[in-house]
Amino acid sequence: MNLTLKIWRQKGPQDKGAMVEYKVNDISEHMSFLEMMDVLNEQLVNSGDEPVAFDHDCREGICGMCSLYINGEAHGPDRGITTCQLHMRMFNDGDTIYIEPWRAAAFPVIKDLVVDRMAMERIQQAGGFVSVNTSGNTQDANAMPISKHDADESMDAAACIGCGACVASCKNSSAMLFVGAKVSQYALLPQGQVEAADRVLNMVHQMDLEGFGNCTNTGACEVECPKGITLVNIARMNREFLKASIKG
Ligand code: SF4
Ligand code: FES
Repeated sequence: MNLTLKIWRQKGPQDKGAMVEYKVNDISEHMSFLEMMDVLNEQLVNSGDEPVAFDHDCREGICGMCSLYINGEAHGPDRGITTCQLHMRMFNDGDTIYIEPWRAAAFPVIKDLVVDRMAMERIQQAGGFVSVNTSGNTQDANAMPISKHDADESMDAAACIGCGACVASCKNSSAMLFVGAKVSQYALLPQGQVEAADRVLNMVHQMDLEGFGNCTNTGACEVECPKGITLVNIARMNREFLKASIKG
C-alpha cells in the first residue's frame, strides 16, 4: 500500500517542532508499524536526510519503550497492544497517518518522537519495590500462602510495562493508572505489607512533584493501556493512600 505520513519533527528539546509530510510506497500489510517506520528511515538516509528518531527496544510488547501517538491514539488504532505489535493491516492503501510523540508536561520531547520518561522511573525509585532480606534467613515462599484471587490480581497489576500510554491518553496527563498498578501489585501480597504505607505516600508524592495531573475518572487510560490495567488499580491506590495518611 502507498501511504502519506505526517510526522512530528523536532530537532531538540528547545526546537519548536512541526508536522512534516512524507510518502512511503509498497508497504506490505504484514509489516509491523515500526518496520514501516524503518522503511521510511532507510528512504531518508538514502536521500541524505535525517532519519526520524523514535523509541523501541524489544519489539515484542515487553519493554514499554515504543511510544507513538498514531492518528490521535496512544499505540494506534488496535487494542491491547503496543506500537511495536501494531500491524499495517490496520490501515488502508492511500491512508494519511498522523504520528506524534507522547504529549505531557512531565514527558518533554528529546527529539522527534522520543520523549523523556524518567519521571516514571523516579516514581518507581520512590517506592516501587520490596526490600528483601538477603542475609540467609529469607523466609521460604511456601510458608506464606496467598489466595489465588489475590495472586491473580497482583499479577494483572504487575503486567504494566511503564510505557506511559495512560499519561499520553489522559486529558489531565495523569499517571495514576501507572502508579495504581505499581502500588497494587505489592498491596495485594503479604510481602508488600511491610513498606505499604511508605510506598504509597512516597510514590504519590513523587508523582505530584513530577507534574502529572489528577484523575477525573474519564477512563481513557484504561482504553489505551496495552496491558489491560484497569481503573480498579487507581481505586485501590486511593484506598491505600487514605489508609497510610490516617495511620500517619
Ligand atoms: S498502566 Fe498501561 S498504559 Fe500506563 S504505563 Fe502501565 S502498561 Fe502503559
Ligand atoms: S519495543 Fe518493547 S514494547 Fe514495543
